[in-house]
Amino acid sequence: MQGLQGKVAIVTGAGSGIGQEIAKRLGRDRAKLVIDYVGSEAGADATRKAVEAAGSQAVVVQADVTKMADVQKLVDTAWTQFGSADVLVNNAGMEKRSDFWDTPEADYDKVMAVNLKGPFFLTQAFVRRLREAKRPGRVINISSVHEEMAFPGFATYCCSKGGLRMLMRDLTVELGPLGITVNNVAPGAIATPINTALLNDKAKLEALVKNIPLGRLGTTEDVAGVVAFLASDDASYVTGATFLVDGGLMRNYHEQ
Ligand code: BGC
Repeated sequence: MQGLQGKVAIVTGAGSGIGQEIAKRLGRDRAKLVIDYVGSEAGADATRKAVEAAGSQAVVVQADVTKMADVQKLVDTAWTQFGSADVLVNNAGMEKRSDFWDTPEADYDKVMAVNLKGPFFLTQAFVRRLREAKRPGRVINISSVHEEMAFPGFATYCCSKGGLRMLMRDLTVELGPLGITVNNVAPGAIATPINTALLNDKAKLEALVKNIPLGRLGTTEDVAGVVAFLASDDASYVTGATFLVDGGLMRNYHEQ
């Protein structure tokens, strides 16, 4: 597919996991990529090499999405290096486990900053440039089934993803007149580093897979394919929706 020829995409957290796969996939579809990472430089470099090997161009930027100067740097890099930023994938995310009554303030601040403040202000910087240039755009947030479904032990994560869901809904209305679409992709259990503890715990993993009607964990490719669709011309009239990529997990209910 060369459907994204001439488009420039920013993908946050693209040094590993879902973000890395999304950047690689958009590169195969011929988008030029701004690859953001915060910790995994080697991973971000591997992403860049994969995009280049697929025949497209990429630049790697170390930027912490929780910092205003850094989110501006991501948008500026896209415009100075490639002449625009048409697609923004807010993928960078994290989770921290704790019982609600033990959750430290620092964990709340960190999770909310990465998962919600980051997308909020990066989208703002992305939109300001498009608005000035009178160009359309696409915002795609990597949310979670937990923008909707409870996740005991992860109240901070649920708050952040629930917030991301309402941010998407609000921006659908505010940005529609500018020709900017906004959608969420909500992965379920995907085999990535965020799930390392789970992947190493056979009993927990089996219990989780039992809850997934399709009977397997998702892959990063499963998520990247939906993002590629949302970035493509085929999705030009699609805005304001959450796309579950969860093997049916959200809809499942058993009576034992
Ligand atoms: C979380 C995973 C969890 C999955 C399904 C994801 O959003 O990051 O830790 O396993 O949802 O519950």
